[in-house]
Amino acid sequence: MNTTSKVSYSFVTLVSIVAAVGGLLFGYDTSVISGAIGFMQTKFNLGAGMQGWVVSCLLIGAIIGAGFAGFLSDLLGRKKMLITAGLLFTIGSIFSALAPTINLFVIARIIGGVGIGISSTLVPLYIAEIAPSKHRGRLVSLNQLAVVIGISAIYFVNKAIVNAGNHSWDINFSWRWMLGCGLIPGLIFVILLFFVPESPRWLQKQGLENKAFSILERINGTQHAKKELEDVKASIQKETSGSLKLLFKPGFRIALLIGVVLAILQQVTGINAIMYYAPEIFKRIGVGTNASLTETIIVGLVNFVFTIVSLWLIDRVGRKTLLIIGSAIMTISLAVVGFQFNNVHPNGAVVLVFILLFVAAFAVSFGPIVWLVIAEIFPTNIRGRATAVASVTLWLADFVVSQFFPVLLGSTGPAITFFIFAALGLFAFIFSLTVVRETKGKTLEEIEAEWSMK
Ligand code: BGC
Repeated sequence: MNTTSKVSYSFVTLVSIVAAVGGLLFGYDTSVISGAIGFMQTKFNLGAGMQGWVVSCLLIGAIIGAGFAGFLSDLLGRKKMLITAGLLFTIGSIFSALAPTINLFVIARIIGGVGIGISSTLVPLYIAEIAPSKHRGRLVSLNQLAVVIGISAIYFVNKAIVNAGNHSWDINFSWRWMLGCGLIPGLIFVILLFFVPESPRWLQKQGLENKAFSILERINGTQHAKKELEDVKASIQKETSGSLKLLFKPGFRIALLIGVVLAILQQVTGINAIMYYAPEIFKRIGVGTNASLTETIIVGLVNFVFTIVSLWLIDRVGRKTLLIIGSAIMTISLAVVGFQFNNVHPNGAVVLVFILLFVAAFAVSFGPIVWLVIAEIFPTNIRGRATAVASVTLWLADFVVSQFFPVLLGSTGPAITFFIFAALGLFAFIFSLTVVRETKGKTLEEIEAEWSMK
């Protein structure tokens, strides 16, 4: 029995790692542009508006991709759509590296963004549907770990590429290599996906019971798989409606509220203001360019270490508790940073420490848990589409924050900006405390049944 559970755990872990390569692409695309944009600006003589558009057009693609991911994955399956995501990312990488004009570059980035939108929605969902409930939190959060690794790794890739040539080569070619290298993880993702099984829950929904059972059996052992399959069947039959209207039924309305509000809160509490603009923030406290880049690396490292801490805690302590503690620390940190910027001479060390504390608290809580919760709280019949609603909202919120942060910083200054983030952090704390439900250790069917009882 012990051996069986060990064998099956390594199988499901491997499958989850393959899927999580999609997270690596997410992280890669999030930060590759920050290394490229300076050279592209010189090469194409971009104004401020065009620069902003070149950076954020990816998010438009992600919104479109997340929107289609749900409907198409309910229809065609999770695996086919993940492969599509990998292909789109790869195509986007090749074309953005070769783009002769800035408009073609933008189109290529949007295509890649569609891939990211699809994979960001479906990787957590696919892992949630295949993982045993006891380890689901940790396995789904491997995706977030991959996102974080992608964000940091690309920083070093960019640096190595820039160092490979002189300034004129950098302006003409370095950024093409930075984007083109996305081809490698993109293709690895596509190839590896051919070796993972389709989601057993989606297979059962298609009436492919034998296939669904053999995958569940491999993961959970025969006895447990039988029980799980019965539960999956019962939940699919119970919700006769496969339409999104199901989400407006009394119990499921709360699930929808939790998914959408958490998605917004993950973004509007300011993580990407820090991820995208860290060097800018550090410069404001009088740190030189080199030191500010070093501090950006430290931000990446803290994000990575505390995401691992989260993986360790998530199935032990639970989602709700981590969200409550995380948002409390995030709020306090944001407020302290706000107060510091309110001073004529902000204390650089204090700002740095509390920004790092904010990143650590985010990495333990809202970073991984929001993606996990939106993948696990919706009913199987409409899981793809419902998760996509939350995921589109998340990308939209990301777009809004990344557009308005520089404007806010310029008009009201950093103190007010951070106070706004802190106020939203306080709301995140209250929402986690009062509305979010614990899903730790429950099967997806048990979670679904609890909504129906409300
Ligand atoms: C968020 C991203 C963010 C990243 C930082 C993810 O969970 O969705 O927007 O850049 O975490 O680690």
